[in-house]
Amino acid sequence: MTAAKFPIPDGNTVITPSVLSADFSDLGKSLSGVNGRSGWIHFDVMDGHFVPNISFGPLLIPAVKKCSPLCVDAHLMISQPARYIEPFAKAGADLITVHEEAEDPLEAMRKIRSLGLLAGISVKPKTPAKKLIPFMEIADLILVMTVEPGFGGQKFMADMMPKVQEIRSMIGRTGRKIWLQVDGGINEHTALEAVKAGADSLVMGSALFKQENPDAYLNGILNNINAKKHE
Ligand code: DX5
Ligand code: ZN
Repeated sequence: MTAAKFPIPDGNTVITPSVLSADFSDLGKSLSGVNGRSGWIHFDVMDGHFVPNISFGPLLIPAVKKCSPLCVDAHLMISQPARYIEPFAKAGADLITVHEEAEDPLEAMRKIRSLGLLAGISVKPKTPAKKLIPFMEIADLILVMTVEPGFGGQKFMADMMPKVQEIRSMIGRTGRKIWLQVDGGINEHTALEAVKAGADSLVMGSALFKQENPDAYLNGILNNINAKKHE
């Protein structure tokens, strides 16, 4: 199977299912239900130090890629990302996102790019948009957290929308194609708000994987967004 190409921002919205909320007792079934119009799979890595939770490491990526033809973006919620870029690249990550608040994020992103992968930078809720300025020429994706990182199933922080708008303008000024991803508490009620603020990649975990028919749920949200995003 030829490796899928990571999608390029084209103005359309993609929903990116977060594996953290998938059913690990049947990952194949869980992921096969969301392969329709998802952009790619979001893979939440937590080290129990940068965030107060531990999730999984590179070992799980080959299993995810056996269950889904989609690309994988690895969201590293870890303190020393530069140390772990190679193992995630070797495991098959297509895009790796590191946190601005972690150690040496720029060095980590240069390493990601040197390995031929796409590089993302993420900011926690309390981190202002201006902290992203050093990354605007290297980032392929900017991830705005709309929850405190560490857990799925939290409430969407609507007060992050002005920051999303500000970052959308920063991206516009670069003239570069950079995904603007929002992560945390996305569901049928918050998705449109995030898109109207300027997001084009919506991470969705708990709201999606608890659905009987996640693909239908995801399609319904995307159809609603496409109908209303310019209202
Ligand atoms: C939280 C993770 C998110 C989370 C999203 O630290 O980065 O990706 O899994 O889950 P929901 O959609 O349930 O908020
Ligand atoms: Zn995430």
